[in-house]
Amino acid sequence: MIKKASSKRWMQEHVTDHFVKQAQKDGYRSRAAYKLLEIAQKDRLLAPGSIVFDLGAAPGGWSQVVAKAVGANGRVFAVDLLAVQPVHGVQMFRGDFTEAEMRQTLLNLAPQGADLVLSDMAPNISGIADRDQRLSFELAELAVEFAADALKPGGHVLLKVFQSEWVDELRGRMSELFSRVLVRKPEASRGRSAEVFLLGQGRRHPSDKTSCTASAEST
Ligand SMILES: C[S@@+](CC[C@H](N)C(=O)[O-])C[C@H]1O[C@@H](n2cnc3c(N)ncnc32)[C@H](O)[C@@H]1O
Repeated sequence: MIKKASSKRWMQEHVTDHFVKQAQKDGYRSRAAYKLLEIAQKDRLLAPGSIVFDLGAAPGGWSQVVAKAVGANGRVFAVDLLAVQPVHGVQMFRGDFTEAEMRQTLLNLAPQGADLVLSDMAPNISGIADRDQRLSFELAELAVEFAADALKPGGHVLLKVFQSEWVDELRGRMSELFSRVLVRKPEASRGRSAEVFLLGQGRRHPSDKTSCTASAEST
Protein backbone atom coordinates (compact mmCIF):
# COMPACT_ATOMS: atom_id res chain seq x y z
CA MET A 1 0.00 0.00 0.00
CA ILE A 2 2.81 2.40 0.99
CA LYS A 3 4.72 1.38 -2.13
CA LYS A 4 1.66 2.11 -4.31
CA ALA A 5 1.20 5.56 -2.72
CA SER A 6 4.87 6.47 -3.14
CA SER A 7 5.01 5.35 -6.77
CA LYS A 8 1.85 7.41 -7.45
CA ARG A 9 3.54 10.42 -5.82
CA TRP A 10 6.69 9.79 -7.90
CA MET A 11 4.61 9.71 -11.10
CA GLN A 12 2.78 12.92 -10.18
CA GLU A 13 6.07 14.69 -9.41
CA HIS A 14 7.67 13.30 -12.55
CA VAL A 15 5.05 14.63 -14.96
CA THR A 16 5.09 18.12 -13.40
CA ASP A 17 8.88 18.29 -12.91
CA HIS A 18 10.56 21.23 -14.63
CA PHE A 19 13.61 19.19 -15.66
CA VAL A 20 11.47 16.38 -17.11
CA LYS A 21 9.67 18.93 -19.30
CA GLN A 22 12.95 20.59 -20.26
CA ALA A 23 14.49 17.20 -21.19
CA GLN A 24 11.53 16.48 -23.48
CA LYS A 25 12.01 19.88 -25.15
CA ASP A 26 15.78 19.56 -25.51
CA GLY A 27 15.69 15.94 -26.67
CA TYR A 28 17.53 14.46 -23.69
CA ARG A 29 16.59 10.95 -22.66
CA SER A 30 16.72 11.71 -18.94
CA ARG A 31 16.38 14.65 -16.56
CA ALA A 32 19.75 13.46 -15.20
CA ALA A 33 21.35 15.20 -18.19
CA TYR A 34 20.89 18.53 -16.36
CA LYS A 35 22.85 17.33 -13.34
CA LEU A 36 25.86 16.71 -15.54
CA LEU A 37 25.34 19.89 -17.56
CA GLU A 38 25.35 22.01 -14.39
CA ILE A 39 28.44 20.40 -12.84
CA ALA A 40 30.33 20.20 -16.13
CA GLN A 41 29.75 23.88 -16.78
CA LYS A 42 30.68 24.99 -13.26
CA ASP A 43 33.81 22.83 -13.12
CA ARG A 44 34.76 22.92 -16.81
CA LEU A 45 34.79 19.15 -17.15
CA LEU A 46 34.03 18.63 -20.82
CA ALA A 47 36.18 19.74 -23.74
CA PRO A 48 36.32 18.97 -27.46
CA GLY A 49 38.57 16.01 -28.22
CA SER A 50 38.36 14.47 -24.75
CA ILE A 51 38.29 10.75 -24.01
CA VAL A 52 35.47 9.99 -21.56
CA PHE A 53 34.02 6.94 -19.81
CA ASP A 54 30.32 7.02 -18.85
CA LEU A 55 29.57 4.33 -16.26
CA GLY A 56 25.89 3.49 -15.68
CA ALA A 57 24.73 5.15 -18.88
CA ALA A 58 21.12 4.01 -19.43
CA PRO A 59 18.95 5.51 -20.81
CA GLY A 60 21.72 7.72 -22.23
CA GLY A 61 21.19 11.33 -21.09
CA TRP A 62 24.77 11.83 -19.86
CA SER A 63 26.12 10.10 -22.97
CA GLN A 64 24.19 12.56 -25.15
CA VAL A 65 25.68 15.52 -23.25
CA VAL A 66 29.21 14.12 -23.42
CA ALA A 67 29.10 13.11 -27.09
CA LYS A 68 28.01 16.62 -28.05
CA ALA A 69 30.70 18.27 -25.93
CA VAL A 70 33.67 16.14 -27.03
CA GLY A 71 32.70 16.26 -30.71
CA ALA A 72 34.05 14.23 -33.60
CA ASN A 73 37.65 14.25 -32.26
CA GLY A 74 36.66 12.88 -28.86
CA ARG A 75 35.89 9.33 -27.76
CA VAL A 76 33.07 8.23 -25.46
CA PHE A 77 32.82 4.72 -23.99
CA ALA A 78 29.70 3.87 -22.02
CA VAL A 79 28.51 0.85 -20.06
CA ASP A 80 25.28 -0.26 -18.41
CA LEU A 81 23.59 -3.44 -17.24
CA LEU A 82 20.67 -2.41 -19.43
CA ALA A 83 20.49 -2.10 -23.18
CA VAL A 84 20.80 1.51 -24.35
CA GLN A 85 19.54 2.87 -27.66
CA PRO A 86 22.59 3.93 -29.68
CA VAL A 87 23.88 7.47 -29.14
CA HIS A 88 25.82 8.96 -32.05
CA GLY A 89 29.51 9.13 -31.18
CA VAL A 90 29.28 6.75 -28.21
CA GLN A 91 30.63 3.20 -28.06
CA MET A 92 28.08 1.50 -25.83
CA PHE A 93 28.65 -1.73 -23.89
CA ARG A 94 26.05 -3.82 -22.13
CA GLY A 95 27.57 -5.46 -19.08
CA ASP A 96 28.19 -5.47 -15.35
CA PHE A 97 30.81 -2.96 -14.25
CA THR A 98 31.39 -4.93 -11.03
CA GLU A 99 32.92 -7.72 -13.14
CA ALA A 100 36.70 -7.41 -13.49
CA GLU A 101 36.54 -8.62 -17.09
CA MET A 102 34.16 -5.80 -18.04
CA ARG A 103 36.42 -3.22 -16.41
CA GLN A 104 39.46 -4.62 -18.22
CA THR A 105 37.60 -4.50 -21.55
CA LEU A 106 36.90 -0.80 -20.92
CA LEU A 107 40.47 -0.05 -19.82
CA ASN A 108 41.83 -1.61 -23.01
CA LEU A 109 39.84 0.89 -25.07
CA ALA A 110 41.90 3.87 -23.92
CA PRO A 111 45.48 2.69 -23.40
CA GLN A 112 46.69 6.30 -23.74
CA GLY A 113 44.53 7.30 -20.74
CA ALA A 114 41.18 9.05 -20.45
CA ASP A 115 40.51 12.69 -19.56
CA LEU A 116 37.34 12.06 -17.58
CA VAL A 117 35.52 9.18 -15.85
CA LEU A 118 31.84 9.71 -15.04
CA SER A 119 29.73 7.41 -12.91
CA ASP A 120 26.01 7.86 -12.41
CA MET A 121 25.66 4.19 -11.41
CA ALA A 122 23.04 3.44 -8.79
CA PRO A 123 21.77 0.16 -7.35
CA ASN A 124 18.13 -0.84 -7.67
CA ILE A 125 16.54 0.97 -4.75
CA SER A 126 15.11 -1.45 -2.18
CA GLY A 127 13.98 1.21 0.26
CA ILE A 128 16.20 -0.34 2.94
CA ALA A 129 18.53 2.61 3.50
CA ASP A 130 21.52 0.66 4.88
CA ARG A 131 21.51 -1.78 1.99
CA ASP A 132 21.03 0.88 -0.69
CA GLN A 133 23.78 3.08 0.79
CA ARG A 134 26.19 0.17 1.04
CA LEU A 135 25.61 -0.89 -2.58
CA SER A 136 25.95 2.70 -3.79
CA PHE A 137 29.21 3.05 -1.87
CA GLU A 138 30.55 -0.18 -3.39
CA LEU A 139 29.78 1.01 -6.94
CA ALA A 140 31.37 4.39 -6.23
CA GLU A 141 34.45 2.77 -4.70
CA LEU A 142 34.91 0.58 -7.79
CA ALA A 143 34.48 3.65 -10.01
CA VAL A 144 37.23 5.49 -8.09
CA GLU A 145 39.68 2.59 -8.46
CA PHE A 146 38.78 2.27 -12.14
CA ALA A 147 39.36 6.02 -12.60
CA ALA A 148 42.76 5.69 -10.93
CA ASP A 149 43.77 3.18 -13.62
CA ALA A 150 41.95 4.75 -16.55
CA LEU A 151 42.84 8.44 -16.24
CA LYS A 152 45.82 10.36 -17.55
CA PRO A 153 47.67 12.41 -14.94
CA GLY A 154 45.58 15.58 -14.56
CA GLY A 155 42.32 13.78 -15.47
CA HIS A 156 39.09 14.07 -13.48
CA VAL A 157 36.40 11.79 -12.04
CA LEU A 158 32.79 12.66 -11.21
CA LEU A 159 30.71 10.06 -9.43
CA LYS A 160 27.39 9.67 -7.73
CA VAL A 161 27.07 8.19 -4.27
CA PHE A 162 24.27 8.05 -1.71
CA GLN A 163 25.05 9.99 1.48
CA SER A 164 26.17 7.58 4.20
CA GLU A 165 28.74 6.99 6.88
CA TRP A 166 31.09 5.67 4.14
CA VAL A 167 31.25 8.86 2.07
CA ASP A 168 34.13 10.26 4.14
CA GLU A 169 36.12 7.07 3.50
CA LEU A 170 35.55 7.57 -0.23
CA ARG A 171 36.60 11.22 -0.06
CA GLY A 172 39.72 10.20 1.81
CA ARG A 173 40.68 7.68 -0.86
CA MET A 174 39.96 10.23 -3.59
CA SER A 175 42.19 12.75 -1.85
CA GLU A 176 45.09 10.33 -2.16
CA LEU A 177 44.50 10.07 -5.91
CA PHE A 178 43.38 13.60 -6.88
CA SER A 179 44.68 17.10 -6.15
CA ARG A 180 41.24 18.36 -5.13
CA VAL A 181 38.02 16.66 -4.01
CA LEU A 182 34.73 18.55 -4.13
CA VAL A 183 31.13 17.70 -3.29
CA ARG A 184 28.39 18.73 -5.71
CA LYS A 185 24.59 18.69 -5.38
CA PRO A 186 23.21 20.10 -8.64
CA GLU A 187 19.81 21.78 -8.85
CA ALA A 188 18.32 18.90 -10.85
CA SER A 189 19.15 16.49 -8.02
CA ARG A 190 15.99 16.32 -5.93
CA GLY A 191 16.47 17.75 -2.46
CA ARG A 192 15.05 14.66 -0.77
CA SER A 193 17.30 12.37 -2.82
CA ALA A 194 20.23 10.98 -0.83
CA GLU A 195 22.55 11.31 -3.82
CA VAL A 196 25.55 13.60 -3.95
CA PHE A 197 28.28 13.86 -6.55
CA LEU A 198 31.96 13.67 -5.68
CA LEU A 199 34.38 15.34 -8.03
CA GLY A 200 38.05 14.41 -8.04
CA GLN A 201 40.07 16.98 -9.99
CA GLY A 202 43.59 16.46 -11.23
CA ARG A 203 44.62 12.81 -11.09
CA ARG A 204 47.98 12.80 -9.36
CA HIS A 205 50.83 11.18 -11.17
CA PRO A 206 50.77 7.51 -10.02
CA SER A 207 54.32 7.87 -8.64
CA ASP A 208 53.26 10.85 -6.47
CA LYS A 209 52.17 9.32 -3.18
CA THR A 210 51.47 12.66 -1.45
CA SER A 211 48.33 12.41 0.66
CA CYS A 212 46.17 15.51 0.65
CA THR A 213 43.17 14.58 2.77
CA ALA A 214 42.97 18.12 4.11
CA SER A 215 42.13 19.45 0.65
CA ALA A 216 38.68 17.83 0.59
CA GLU A 217 36.31 20.80 0.12
CA SER A 218 32.59 21.13 -0.24
CA THR A 219 32.29 24.22 -2.43
C1 LIG B 1 20.57 6.85 -12.64
S1 LIG B 1 20.78 5.68 -13.91
C2 LIG B 1 21.87 6.50 -15.01
C3 LIG B 1 21.24 7.63 -15.79
C4 LIG B 1 22.14 8.14 -16.91
N1 LIG B 1 23.31 8.81 -16.36
C5 LIG B 1 21.42 9.08 -17.81
O1 LIG B 1 21.75 10.27 -17.83
O2 LIG B 1 20.56 8.65 -18.57
C6 LIG B 1 21.84 4.50 -13.13
C7 LIG B 1 22.26 3.36 -14.03
O3 LIG B 1 23.29 2.61 -13.38
C8 LIG B 1 23.24 1.31 -13.93
N2 LIG B 1 24.02 0.36 -13.14
C9 LIG B 1 23.84 0.00 -11.84
N3 LIG B 1 24.72 -0.95 -11.49
C10 LIG B 1 25.49 -1.18 -12.58
C11 LIG B 1 26.56 -2.09 -12.85
N4 LIG B 1 27.00 -2.93 -11.92
N5 LIG B 1 27.11 -2.09 -14.09
C12 LIG B 1 26.66 -1.24 -15.04
N6 LIG B 1 25.63 -0.38 -14.86
C13 LIG B 1 25.06 -0.34 -13.65
C14 LIG B 1 21.74 1.01 -13.90
O4 LIG B 1 21.41 -0.05 -14.77
C15 LIG B 1 21.14 2.35 -14.31
O5 LIG B 1 20.80 2.37 -15.67
